[in-house]
Amino acid sequence: MINPPLALYAHFPWCVQKCPYCDFNSYTLKEQLPEDRYIDTLRRDLDSQAAGVEGRPLTSIFLGGGTPSLFSPQAIGRLLEHARARLGFVDPIEITLEANPGTIERGRFAEYRAAGVTRVSLGAQSFDARQLERLGRIHSADETRRAAEELHAAGLTNFNLDLMYALPEQTPAAAEDDLRAALALEPAHISQYHLTIEPGTVFAAAPPSQPTDEVVDEMLDRSLRLLVDSGFEQYEVSGYARAGARCVHNLNYWTFGDYMGIGAGAHGKISDAPRDLIVRTQQTREPRRYLAADPEALVRKSIAVRELPFEFAMNGFRLVEGFSDRQFESRTGLPVSVMERALAPIRERGLVARERDTCRATPQGFRFLNDILVALLD
Ligand SMILES: C[S@@+](CC[C@H](N)C(=O)[O-])C[C@H]1O[C@@H](n2cnc3c(N)ncnc32)[C@H](O)[C@@H]1O
Ligand code: SF4
Repeated sequence: MINPPLALYAHFPWCVQKCPYCDFNSYTLKEQLPEDRYIDTLRRDLDSQAAGVEGRPLTSIFLGGGTPSLFSPQAIGRLLEHARARLGFVDPIEITLEANPGTIERGRFAEYRAAGVTRVSLGAQSFDARQLERLGRIHSADETRRAAEELHAAGLTNFNLDLMYALPEQTPAAAEDDLRAALALEPAHISQYHLTIEPGTVFAAAPPSQPTDEVVDEMLDRSLRLLVDSGFEQYEVSGYARAGARCVHNLNYWTFGDYMGIGAGAHGKISDAPRDLIVRTQQTREPRRYLAADPEALVRKSIAVRELPFEFAMNGFRLVEGFSDRQFESRTGLPVSVMERALAPIRERGLVARERDTCRATPQGFRFLNDILVALLD
């Protein structure tokens, strides 16, 4: 095993209003944002985890949520400065901030950029006023347009737009209209997520009526064609990028790289090559408890060797290009024959393809990614 690149994920758990479909660790902000206290706690959390990764500079940072754009550029800057001082950055580093278009004031993105942010992921979701309302979003399509203009004006042209499809009663034409509206804002990256009804959400209690599988297939065919014609390449199940604009941070997850996870409920994965160990970490979920807890409350659990092929593949098969034998061996410390044995039944079903020294899901397998993963679990 060789230690892979190291990234940092920082979680910001508050939102202006909880969306009815969302099961992320996020909470409606009911009182004043404890901005300084939260940043101080993140810094302590980072310090206490840094001991295990000395000498490994960060290749990317993702400030996710929740809604990190509720935090001021000064607060974000205070965290980034600390991360640089404590761990060091590779040059150039990718630093992504997730932003909700409903929280962006004029001039704000320029300040985030000055604080060190190099990339923004904007939650557009849809440009249809009725859908935005049903989804409980706090912003209009025009606010998303204004946020995108601000991004261009601030020189943060490397930005992503999140879109959701298979929305209540959505037609393929309406999904295509959403995508066209997104493309008009000239993003460098688009993430398209199938609206999923997650247990425990408001939508799970009263599920909206969603389009059939056939309609969704047509949406996907049309959107892929439009994205390719517009100069985007699909490189991941939900990810489309212009040349040079793939998300470094997400690629690190999908290639089984390492990441520290700081903040309420954040997950991490850290390899310890000399000891042939990979440890998963999880922080206290509930913000108030996280703020009150000792950073050492972090739960650490090593991944059992027999689970490694599944853990690796769960990520690797999300990529259109799949993964190489070398990557599998260096990141899991296992011989590739272990993966081959596990994959044999699904290779017979035509769900995965083997070409020279790489392994990837076939187009059929890409649509039935879960079948591949379930086979690996057996
Ligand atoms: C953690 S959210 C962060 C973005 C930011 N909080 C916002 O909503 O503007 C990341 C993305 O996940 C997607 N997402 C969240 N819940 C989803 C669900 N149930 N089904 C599909 N996509 C979902 C949305 O597109 C969202 O923008
Ligand atoms: S704003 Fe984003 S993180 Fe917050 S509830 Fe909505 S989808 Fe979830």
